[in-house]
Amino acid sequence: MKLIYVFTRGVRKGRLKMQNSGAVVTPWEVKGEVDYDELIRQFGVEPLDRLMIERLGRHAGGLHVLLRRGMFFSHREFGDWMKSYEEGVRVALYTGRGPSGNTHLGHLIPWIFTKYLQDAFKADLFFQMTDDEKFLFNPELSIEDINKFTEENLLDIIAVGFDPKRTKIFADLSYTKKLYNIAVRVAKHVTFSTARATFGFSESSNIGMVFFPAMQAAPCFLPQYIDGKDTHVLIPCAIDQEPYWRISRDVAPKLGYRKPAGIYSKFIPGLGAGGKMSASMPETAIFLSDTECEAIKKVKNAFTGGQPTIREQKEKGGNPDVCVIYSYLYSLFEESDAEVAETYKSCKSGGKTCGECKESLAKKVAAFLKEHHRRREKAKDCVQDFLLRE
Ligand code: TYM
Repeated sequence: MKLIYVFTRGVRKGRLKMQNSGAVVTPWEVKGEVDYDELIRQFGVEPLDRLMIERLGRHAGGLHVLLRRGMFFSHREFGDWMKSYEEGVRVALYTGRGPSGNTHLGHLIPWIFTKYLQDAFKADLFFQMTDDEKFLFNPELSIEDINKFTEENLLDIIAVGFDPKRTKIFADLSYTKKLYNIAVRVAKHVTFSTARATFGFSESSNIGMVFFPAMQAAPCFLPQYIDGKDTHVLIPCAIDQEPYWRISRDVAPKLGYRKPAGIYSKFIPGLGAGGKMSASMPETAIFLSDTECEAIKKVKNAFTGGQPTIREQKEKGGNPDVCVIYSYLYSLFEESDAEVAETYKSCKSGGKTCGECKESLAKKVAAFLKEHHRRREKAKDCVQDFLLRE
């Protein structure tokens, strides 16, 4: 599969732009309307097909809404990973967070799914917090800022409900010894030319940025590095992180490890018209630190597929296919298939107004945040149970 990379030197520090029908998808930037079928071809990953989904459902005892509704849409060797599990090879999960700000709902998508996988496969989860990445890539953030976000984000991660006995969270700047030992081994096999072609580094990239991909690759091999036991790692994340796994997979056999498998989600959109949910647009992102009132207000101001007036809505109907409110209900917040189908139909026929859908989503988001805030408070008492130590 040919990967199409287009360099746009000088634009955002010369970072690589993956052109996707006008959209841009890189580990640091996602912009525009992403064509996911095109992305599957460009990244050389596989679509998550019905058989694979059913096989996962059999292990998990049911299908998560994020699977049923296609939020998780692609993978790399996920079937092989399940085969390892079925044959008794130790399996592990690896995901992460770059603590550059408050956590938003988009970040939670892969984590909620990771918890579902952890419960299904009783797998250890290695959770990396790339404080070094966020320091190196954001000129405006100091180490002190990043440390603050690391502490804050850690509570959101724990609040997802991971099993404390099977979850090991670590931040690069403090859990350094083992990670660095693996990272230098990875780095030795990655040329600058590969790193530049994969990530778009340029003359003005600082040298820490160029080394960093080896740090994000390192946890792919950490479970086996720790105790020497053969382990097959699966990485659940959104598709923007995929370039890291290309490097990790290339290097794995050279270091005597299994190639990590991956399972990838789409991006939950922001509440405005177009684009993924992003912390750089706070008015269109639902942060986990938002109060219920703040979140309700954001939902009420969201972009919809509705007509300008209620009369026109009743006459012509709305367009759920472009509606952010509908997409939230569809991809995460409305569990019932019958209910989501009914919302689609009645929006199209003009039977339902945008106000009604907003009201319904606002209630669900507020309830979700209330529960998250409760769990986050509880998380403060058990941080130590989750931290991986040297
Ligand atoms: P970060 O902190 O940008 O994002 C954390 C996770 O959230 C996903 N994500 C989204 N998913 C759905 N909808 C969105 N709108 C959305 N925005 C972000 C990201 O894909 C990611 O899975 N470098 C990484 C940290 C990291 C990591 C990892 C991530 C280190 N090791 C292993 C995944 C797997 C980062 O800055 O992610």
